[in-house]
Amino acid sequence: MTLSFTSSLSVDAKLAWYDIAGSLAHARMLGSTGIVPREESESMVQGLLQLLERLEAGQLDLSEELEDVHTNVEDMLTKAVGDAGRRLHTARSRNDQVSTDLRMFVRDAILEIVALLIDVQEILTDRAEEERATMMPGFTHLQHAQPVSVGFHLMAHVFRLQRDAERFLDAYKRVNQSPLGAGALAGTGHPIDREMTAQALGFDRPTDNAMDSVSDRDFVLEFAFACAQTMVHLSSMGEELVIWTSPEFGFAEMSDAFATGSSIMPQKKNPDVAELVRGRSSLTIGNLMQLLVLMKGLPLSYNRDLQEDKGAVFSCYETLSACLFVLGPMYHSLTLCRERMAVACAQGFLNATDLADHLVQRGMPFRQAHEVVGAVVRHCIERGRTLEELSVEELRGFSPLFDPSSLEHIRLEACLDRRGSLGGTSPVQVQEQISAARARAEGQRALCYGEIERLEKVWSKLRAER
Ligand code: ARG
Repeated sequence: MTLSFTSSLSVDAKLAWYDIAGSLAHARMLGSTGIVPREESESMVQGLLQLLERLEAGQLDLSEELEDVHTNVEDMLTKAVGDAGRRLHTARSRNDQVSTDLRMFVRDAILEIVALLIDVQEILTDRAEEERATMMPGFTHLQHAQPVSVGFHLMAHVFRLQRDAERFLDAYKRVNQSPLGAGALAGTGHPIDREMTAQALGFDRPTDNAMDSVSDRDFVLEFAFACAQTMVHLSSMGEELVIWTSPEFGFAEMSDAFATGSSIMPQKKNPDVAELVRGRSSLTIGNLMQLLVLMKGLPLSYNRDLQEDKGAVFSCYETLSACLFVLGPMYHSLTLCRERMAVACAQGFLNATDLADHLVQRGMPFRQAHEVVGAVVRHCIERGRTLEELSVEELRGFSPLFDPSSLEHIRLEACLDRRGSLGGTSPVQVQEQISAARARAEGQRALCYGEIERLEKVWSKLRAER
C-alpha cells in the first residue's frame, strides 16, 4: 500500500550498473572467503555477468513491485540462478550497498565533469592567446576602470574553472573509498574481506568506521558544492555574454547556433543559451541547499531520509555537464567586435590612473596626484573631450610636472603594455598566465584521464575473472 510512497526505483534505477558491479565484487569475495560455497558464488557471478550484459543491451526491465534498484538486482539474480541468488545478501546491507553504488556514480561523474572543464579551459585559453593584445575596457562596478586585454579577461575565467577542476579532483580522494562491508551499521560477524571488494571496485581503500560509512554523505555534499560553485562561475560567464551581446555594449556577437529569434519581433537575436546557463545555476544551488538541509538533523546512522539524496546528485551532474558541454562551442564560435571595444576604450577615462602614476613618478605623492587628475578629468567632461586630446599647455595649467611625454604616457596601448606586474594585463604577462594555465591543465588532464583508464581496467578485470 505504501510502496508508491516509499519506492526509490524511479530515481535509483540509474544506479543499476553500479549495483550489479558492486554485487559482483561482493559475490566473489563471499566465495573466496568461504562464506558461501564456491559453486554458489560462481553461479552468482555468472548470473550477475548476464544481468550486466542484459542491462547494457537495454534488456533489463526493473519491476516496480520492488522498492529499489538493489532489491531488483537481487530478485533478478535469484530468478536467473535460483537458490544461489538468495545468498548474495549475506554479510551485506542495502545501507552499505547504496553508499557504495552512489560513490561509484559520483566518481565517474567527477571524472566526466573534470574532462569537460579541461576542454572549456582549453578553448578559452586558445582564444585568450589570440586576443592577448586586443584592448577592451576593464570594469569594476560595471563602470569603466582601466584598459585590459580581452585575453587577460578570458584568462580570469580560465583560472576560475581551473580551481573548480581542482576542487573536484580533491573531493575525488574522499569519494574513492569503499563502504562495502560496513553492513547495516556495525560490521558483520562473517569473515569478510573488505580490502578485496574495495580493490575489485577500484577504490583506494575501505572506509574506517562502519557506522560512519552508512551515515556519511559528505562526499555527496562536497560534490554538490563543487557543482554549485562551478555553476556560479558559469552563470557569471553567461551573464557577461548577455551584457556583451546587448546592442548597448556590442562587444560580441553570438553565433546563430546559440541564439534564437523572437516569435514576434523580427529584429531580435536573443542569447538564450547564455541565459539558460545563468538560469540553471539556480537548480544546482537548490540541490546543494536541499542536501545540506537533508543532512543537518539526522542522528547516526542510516536513516531513510538518506534515500532522498540521489535526485539532487543526479540533477547536479546533469545540469553541470550539459552546461559545460554547450559552453565551449559557444565561446569558440563567439565573434568579438574589436572596433566596438576600441571605441568603448576611448570613453570613461581609462587612462586617468596612468596620468596620476605619471605625476607620482615625478615626485608627487599619490593622493595629491589623484586630486590633480580628478580636476583634469572634470575639465575634460565639461568640454566633452578625452585626456589624450588635451594639449600640453592645458595639462600644465593643472601641474608644472606635465610635459610632452605625459601625452605619450597615457596612450591606451602604452597603458596596457605597462601593466607588467606579476598577474597583470600586459600582453607579456598574459602570455605567462597562458603558459602557467596550460601547464596546470595538462596536469589535471593527466590525472583525470589516468584515472579513467585505471577504472576501465578495473571494470574489464571485474568482468573477465569468471
Ligand atoms: N532505497 C534505500 C535508499 O535508497 C535503500 C536502503 C534502504 N535501507 C533500509 N534500511 N531500509 O536509501
